[in-house]
Amino acid sequence: MKRRNFLKTSAAAAGVLVLKSSRLSFAQSTDARIEILLDEPLGTISPNIYGHFAENLSGVIYDGIWVGKNSNVPNVNGIRKELVDEMRKIHPPLVRFPGGCFADSYDWRDGIGPIDNRPRRTNFWNGGEAQNAPAAHRYDPNRFGTNEFAEFCRLIGAQPYLAANLRSLPAEQFYRWVEYCNSPAGSTTLADERAAAGFKDPFNVRYWGVGNESWGCGGNFTPQEYAVEYRRYTAWVPTYGSELSFVASGPNDDNWDWTRGFLEEIVRKGPDQVRGIYGLALHYYAWNLSRGKTRDWVQGKGDAVNFDAVDWYELLRQGDEMESLINGHWLVMGEFDPEHHIKLVVDEWGPWYKPGSELTPGDQIEQLPTLRDAVFSGMTLDTFNRHPDKVGIGCCAQLINCLNSLYLAHEDRFVVTPVGHVFAMYADHQGGQSLRAEFSAPSIHYDRDGQQASFWGLHGSASLHDKELVITAVNPNVKDSVETQIAVRGARIKSGSATVLTASDIHARNTFEQRQTVSPKNDELTLNSGSAVFRFAAASVTKLKLQLA
Ligand code: AHR
Repeated sequence: MKRRNFLKTSAAAAGVLVLKSSRLSFAQSTDARIEILLDEPLGTISPNIYGHFAENLSGVIYDGIWVGKNSNVPNVNGIRKELVDEMRKIHPPLVRFPGGCFADSYDWRDGIGPIDNRPRRTNFWNGGEAQNAPAAHRYDPNRFGTNEFAEFCRLIGAQPYLAANLRSLPAEQFYRWVEYCNSPAGSTTLADERAAAGFKDPFNVRYWGVGNESWGCGGNFTPQEYAVEYRRYTAWVPTYGSELSFVASGPNDDNWDWTRGFLEEIVRKGPDQVRGIYGLALHYYAWNLSRGKTRDWVQGKGDAVNFDAVDWYELLRQGDEMESLINGHWLVMGEFDPEHHIKLVVDEWGPWYKPGSELTPGDQIEQLPTLRDAVFSGMTLDTFNRHPDKVGIGCCAQLINCLNSLYLAHEDRFVVTPVGHVFAMYADHQGGQSLRAEFSAPSIHYDRDGQQASFWGLHGSASLHDKELVITAVNPNVKDSVETQIAVRGARIKSGSATVLTASDIHARNTFEQRQTVSPKNDELTLNSGSAVFRFAAASVTKLKLQLA
């Protein structure tokens, strides 16, 4: 008999006696404890931290999103229908486009006007494509431009988040792109061009990235040089009566010098300058599985699907650094922006493995997500949930046919990855009140090539929606489930349900042929005297929905 079933039957047999049993003795019979503190709200969880990223990179746009109106693949105005249908289920708040590094090579004008008249351009990522790669991956046919992206966003109910080119287009072109998207119907020549394409009403794009990774592919700037450019590009951009939120290119990983150097230069012009910045973009990929042997970007990468338990924990440990990155950059930002007008925008995050696992051979930096990536993603979204005051936007890199993708597609085949299922499970947090949640569970210890290493045993986040409490948690332990008492300080749990994503094999993944290997299942909790007990499966992501009295 499983310990959970044993608890259920023995509780029923003991009846009143068990119901009256003290909290302490009940707690002692479980391995772990979660305590939710109703009177310690952390802030509202912005739906925007559940955002996405779609770059014009290999199979992301052409094949993944855009199949064309005349395609045999079911589509809505050229956009893959199955993708639209799946995305609607997860309530996507926003999508970032067209890059990534691609953004700073892109001329938005190439992607508007009659589709057959649009030019073909060398894609930024051309150099990494195989010789036999589809032509659209090497030479951008500009079939999917601003109008098609806006249409995609409309179909899935998301806001567009456009990344502007600061490296290779003048500031004037940034203003013109804003004008094309946001100037009222009939007001400007560009509004007329938009209307001619079938989009009379403005797109009202609020979020604008001002360059991407400006320390690297976005111009190779120093933070001070970039700050000067940022000020120039964003000064006096016409707003057309709606709010514009500019996102500055921010640090990679723990590059505190970038954050400090950029803000130092920004406020040199006056402390109020911080008000012109909605967010500072942080990019963080977990990629080094060399167990400390190298920091080489190529040599250090691990395999997406062939890994052992140590690789599993090592990846999660790296991903878990997100929390210290958020706290660390937030501290530095506070030196220049003590009132914290500027939010962190984590608009690229996820694991990044070496090539070889892609479902569509030849797709550049596509990888096949496994259960490990689902646990990684749950852990990252929980981290964002715990910092609603700091994180304004999060974008998983990337939506489809790329790194930590929610979906994989090729021609008429399509699959929801374990990461996609995590986004569906976590959507319930959107707009909720994040609450402090104390997780207490035995740590995991493992041998990291002869050295003892450890990782926490259970962690997650909680949000309140009227009388409903949503708790999500990951159990990273590859072998052991963890029986946990759940208590809410300030309320009693009346009823509840559980959704669990796990598999018996930590390498489990969904493919075009086996689409359901990893998919969420419903489970039950045991209720007892206003608290609950749940056994979190090994290597799992769980959502609990609890009704409070
Ligand atoms: O997501 C892939 C690439 O990673 C993006 O283009 C770039 O911004 C980052 O380095």
